[in-house]
Amino acid sequence: MKPIKVKEDIYRLGSVDWDRRIFDALIPLPDGTSYNAYLIKGSEKTALIDTDEPEFKEEFMSQLEGVEKLDYLVSLHAEQDHSGCIPYVLEKYPEAKLIVTPRCKGMEIDLLHVPEDRFITVEDGETLSLGNKTLKFIHTPWVHWPETMSAYLEEDKVLFSCDFFGSHLAVSDLFVTDKARTYEAAKRYYAEIMMPFRKIISKNLQKVLAYDIDMIAPSHGPIYREPELIIEAHKEWVDAPPKNLVVIPYISMHSSTKLMVDRLVETLVKRGVIVEQFNLEVTDLGKLAMMLVDAATIVVASPTVLGGPHPAAVYAAYLANALKPKAKFVSIMGSYGWGERTVPVISGLIKDLKVEVIEPVTVKGAPTEETYEAIDRLAESIAAKHKEAGIA
Ligand SMILES: Cc1cc2nc3c(=O)[nH]c(=O)nc-3n(C[C@H](O)[C@H](O)[C@H](O)COP(=O)(O)O)c2cc1C
Ligand SMILES: [Fe+2]
Ligand SMILES: [Fe+2]
Repeated sequence: MKPIKVKEDIYRLGSVDWDRRIFDALIPLPDGTSYNAYLIKGSEKTALIDTDEPEFKEEFMSQLEGVEKLDYLVSLHAEQDHSGCIPYVLEKYPEAKLIVTPRCKGMEIDLLHVPEDRFITVEDGETLSLGNKTLKFIHTPWVHWPETMSAYLEEDKVLFSCDFFGSHLAVSDLFVTDKARTYEAAKRYYAEIMMPFRKIISKNLQKVLAYDIDMIAPSHGPIYREPELIIEAHKEWVDAPPKNLVVIPYISMHSSTKLMVDRLVETLVKRGVIVEQFNLEVTDLGKLAMMLVDAATIVVASPTVLGGPHPAAVYAAYLANALKPKAKFVSIMGSYGWGERTVPVISGLIKDLKVEVIEPVTVKGAPTEETYEAIDRLAESIAAKHKEAGIA
């Protein structure tokens, strides 16, 4: 890819990773991703914001061939998908200073072995003049790591937000064209990267929204020329109450647990509750995470296998606990052969969720009429609790 002009004297560099299918060895990426860096040519100084995933070193360094002098390399976030090419850029430009938050400095010494004398640290709200353009640094911790900041280009009203507002989407477009597709990719991204830090994300959202923003240039996915799209989406994902939605991650070896899930879904739907069920044998965990952004209730369903829940259910419950969604209620279901172990183990795995646990339903063997009645009571209880909590 060649550098692409974003605005006068602002260029997008970086790479589109069409083929990447997993991120952080954790997150499925059905639509690939991109790593965006930005070159800003001020009347006196030139700055580069972020670099590239090290795998794309050659492509990235070739994009800098026409840039004779680089004064500042601004690193918004120490994760290697943006910081990985910093050592090569610093080697090419021995005069360039690396601009980071104080916390980022330590992390980049640890992660990339950058020499201490290359850094300039900036405090929250500090500015850097490039002549006719001024960068203002806004500390935005936990989007995505504790050291992260955003940069606001005052004259152009562009917010360089790094992982914040990003989307895992490989597209050839510089700017958002397909809004629905971008929304979905950004929600997947938010669910996995930002949701665990929702409280602090909320504060950071307010902090950056205090600025007059014409354009948001994130480090993954297309640039937002109409930032309302992603700002409104974040306000809802971060701050709005959960929806009248039950998410059911489940697994079943011989259909007993599956029959229980079918009955729960049927009764919930009759009661006007929306349901998303995920068979963990085949599901994309990113999709499950996305649905957890809005769910008011989570029901994990698993048979007992080798003295505990099925390992796939353990993984899903552990992941849900780590992602800390805004759900208010949880329940558990499952079939067992001789000694039920799903409920105690799953309960122990979701201790960080601030939820009310609704009476689980288990059965020895295949579900009976009694089991179905208990499941109907669970569904009614969920519907009633949603109503009581004012969840529409
Ligand atoms: C590999 C395997 C291991 C199992 N281990 C246990 C166990 O440790 N404790 C138990 O009560 N049942 C155990 N069972 C029995 C299942 O829990 C029981 O068959 C249950 O009804 C399966 O539900 P499903 O039809 O939803 O898969 C095991 C079954 C299989 C196939
Ligand atoms: Fe990151
Ligand atoms: Fe990233």
